[in-house]
Amino acid sequence: MSGVTPSTPAPALARQLEFTADAVQAVRSGRSLTEVLGRCPPELRPGVQALAFHTLRWLGSATEARARLAPKTPPPLVDALLVTALALLWPGEPAPYAPHTLVDQAVSAARLRTPAAAGFINAVLRRFLREAEAIVAAVRHTPLGEYNHPLWWVERVRRDWPQDWQALLLQANERPPMTLRVNARRGSGASYVQGLAALGRAATLLDEPGLGGQAVVLGAPCPVPQLPGFAAGEVSVQDAAAQRAAGLLLDPASPWLRPQARVLDACAAPGGKTAHLLELAELDLLALDSDPARLARVQETLNRLQLRAELKAGDARLPAGWWDGRPFDAILLDAPCTASGIVRRHPDVRWLRRADDVAALARVQAEMLDALWPLLAPGGRLLYATCSIFQAEGRQQIDAFLQRQPPGTALLDPRSPGHLLPSRDNGSSGPTGRSAVLQDGFFYALIRKT
Ligand SMILES: C[S@@+](CC[C@H](N)C(=O)[O-])C[C@H]1O[C@@H](n2cnc3c(N)ncnc32)[C@H](O)[C@@H]1O
Repeated sequence: MSGVTPSTPAPALARQLEFTADAVQAVRSGRSLTEVLGRCPPELRPGVQALAFHTLRWLGSATEARARLAPKTPPPLVDALLVTALALLWPGEPAPYAPHTLVDQAVSAARLRTPAAAGFINAVLRRFLREAEAIVAAVRHTPLGEYNHPLWWVERVRRDWPQDWQALLLQANERPPMTLRVNARRGSGASYVQGLAALGRAATLLDEPGLGGQAVVLGAPCPVPQLPGFAAGEVSVQDAAAQRAAGLLLDPASPWLRPQARVLDACAAPGGKTAHLLELAELDLLALDSDPARLARVQETLNRLQLRAELKAGDARLPAGWWDGRPFDAILLDAPCTASGIVRRHPDVRWLRRADDVAALARVQAEMLDALWPLLAPGGRLLYATCSIFQAEGRQQIDAFLQRQPPGTALLDPRSPGHLLPSRDNGSSGPTGRSAVLQDGFFYALIRKT
């Protein structure tokens, strides 16, 4: 487990467990892990983040185990510490700590935070150590314990992907790779891999059509500032599935946009795809986002990469508030979504979402499509993207949009890969085999205006 070393002194582990339990409790009450970690003391943050990621990946199993060990739900803080310890004790992943160290430290954490429950926590965890085999076997027979996602989510994935649903749910608990995008203005993926090799660091070029020879997967993740050339703009961190957007819209193999074509990136922050578009072509690009704080991150990214765009805060559904009336030659709509394709990277997401969020987000996406389509010049292309594996935010959304358009408005095949699943062979237009597993779940549809 990154950020956690078995040699960490025991008192530090008890404190980390306290903060991890607080983070789990906060996520359970609807706050994002990023927000919670921001309030963690800086010296504890890397360790707490690693423990919280692990706990959230196994939260379903731990919750089922706790229900068997202590059927009456304890008060929230006690429960959070219990499920944290149970998740970290869960067999199957390399254990971050020896079981007895973990139990001792969880009890120390309880003495600090919920002293009256320390004996109870001690008894429950020691019983788990004694009966782990039977409890784990029983828990694996429940959907929550087996798949570690809320039941509504399991049902939706099963309905949307009857062939792949189990693989999709299980792979969502894997550790994601750290993937880089080498700045095409500064070098190739192959040369960056060579440079890393010279430093004794392993990395692989993802050499697939659609990635332009710029995507590199690191052999082992590292802190971003330790990436050679990061500060100088040679490289950025971006999942390989996300790296497909710019190529799909610009089609570098047969470029269709004139230099300085007018392009809208309608949901731009934090700017990964904005920057990629500008690395590949000279564009007059407007980067729009409704969140001014997130928009500031777009500017930071562009500064680092020495790229330029116009930035505006505004609601993509209400162009009257920000559009100057000049049509766009191309539009990227990387719409807000459930993020169901990137749960490996954000293990809190599945616990934060509610079943009715899917329909609410799908409504927003449809409003964005309807509002932006009239802004596209005839002959122009709109790329719709979501980092979701749910059909309601992908295939069904685009089918419904095309139904609302005049006859002749159609997907640009084969440049519209549709759903890219991280668990399987996606055919000729998407990642296959091992490289599929190295990429997040995404949906892409490219539509040409006649
Ligand atoms: C999936 S993220 C975009 C990621 C970005 N394209 C990138 O590659 O870095 C979706 C973005 O949509 C923005 N957003 C949400 N509602 C919006 C709206 N009504 N109008 C414009 N932007 C919106 C969010 O603030 C968020 O930054």
